[in-house]
Amino acid sequence: MEWVYIEDLSDYIGRKVEVRGWLYNKRSSGKIRFFLLRDGTGILQGTVYSPDKEHPLFKVYDELTQESSLILRGEIREDKRAAGGYEMTIDDIEVLQIAEEYPITPKEHGTPFLMDHRHLWLRSQKQHAVLQIRTELVRAIRDFFDGRGFRLMDTPILTPSACEGTTTLFETEYFDQKAYLSQSGQLYNEATAMAFGKVYCFGPTFRAEKSKTRKHLIEFWMVEPEVAFAELADIKRLGEDLIIYIIERVLENSQPELDILERDTRLLEKIKKPFPQITYEEAIRLLNEKGNTMQFGDDFGAPEETLLSELHDSPVCVTHFPAKIKAFYMQPDELRPDLVLGLDILASEGYGEIIGGGQRIHDLALLEEKIKEHKLPREAYEWYIDLRKFGSVPHSGFGMGVERMLSWLCKIKHIRETLPFPRLLYRIYP
Ligand code: 4AD
Ligand code: MG
Repeated sequence: MEWVYIEDLSDYIGRKVEVRGWLYNKRSSGKIRFFLLRDGTGILQGTVYSPDKEHPLFKVYDELTQESSLILRGEIREDKRAAGGYEMTIDDIEVLQIAEEYPITPKEHGTPFLMDHRHLWLRSQKQHAVLQIRTELVRAIRDFFDGRGFRLMDTPILTPSACEGTTTLFETEYFDQKAYLSQSGQLYNEATAMAFGKVYCFGPTFRAEKSKTRKHLIEFWMVEPEVAFAELADIKRLGEDLIIYIIERVLENSQPELDILERDTRLLEKIKKPFPQITYEEAIRLLNEKGNTMQFGDDFGAPEETLLSELHDSPVCVTHFPAKIKAFYMQPDELRPDLVLGLDILASEGYGEIIGGGQRIHDLALLEEKIKEHKLPREAYEWYIDLRKFGSVPHSGFGMGVERMLSWLCKIKHIRETLPFPRLLYRIYP
């Protein structure tokens, strides 16, 4: 008998098939026993009907506990009333394992308990829905860049130098040298962009950040495009196009999961480009008007980001930050050299920064000066400096955090639910 997945059952109406999965729930009503089976792609209701109380499958029914693994065999029927729209008339049940008492019950559990049981919590409907949307999000990101002729460049995870400041580096041994886990593939992509024109990398990045917020992970995934000859305005448009493309794809393909999460998608549907653009200084003025006391030279914290990202229905672009609070590689503004051509895109609905990037320094002398100013070890950046010696051009790029984007799309409160096994401050189990 053919083994099929629940999501494919529409092709098997009237046929006898085998479905393999785990018992999600069961109930009985008179002469009928209902088995709700989940196989990762959906939930199927299987039924056994018999006037005989001693029917052998009724015995199996009595023994089965939640999450027991089993194989159901029987005929598929269309049934509008059943979850998923199909039902199986069960002929045979093969039990693989009777599960022990399952620790996650419909009652409320505390977060520490759920995080300790993350390996099981993943099976719950809402967690499952978030990660299903994650796969759609990742697919959309790849399709967006591949469809626009970007070349995928896998940048290294073990690196000899810092990209985003030296305070959040994870250090490890590299034989007789020191190495750091990558904070960003950007510096390498500035090299690959000069070889391929437009590139992106997409992989895990690491920050030894002592921030315990709803938005910070220690290990997160970032997609980073880098484009030779692009300036700030070009990269802003690319960021907008990417966000709009992702939203359209997720609305199109993930509606059932968004429904499970009770995500009100009306605000997402309304988002249009161009996104409003304000400078850092304008942002401060707006914040001060709202009673926030932030001053020039301060970085946005969570309260500031939340305030700013509630100003509009669509995401907001913030540009022209003080050089002091940004990374060494950022291109200064021509007229205001104390400001840099950085770009942050803040998601709406209070979600804050999802994209960070901007235009990079292309002038050799200026870059050398900045490396000195930031007290970075020049030897480690020799190759990066080289790029300004051999056909240097203006270039720009950004990084989008997958988990930040997903939190917003799903409108979930805490970023920990956006990865199967999140790495959080002081938590590395399971
Ligand atoms: O703003 P960030 O630090 O920028 C960079 O790393 C640049 N080198 C990227 C580039 O220009 N190629 O990080 C970019 C994005 C943020 O906007 C955010 O979405 C995400 O990465 N991010 C985090 N996500 C989860 N947890 C953290 N600790 C994050 N730090 C950054
Ligand atoms: Mg940033």
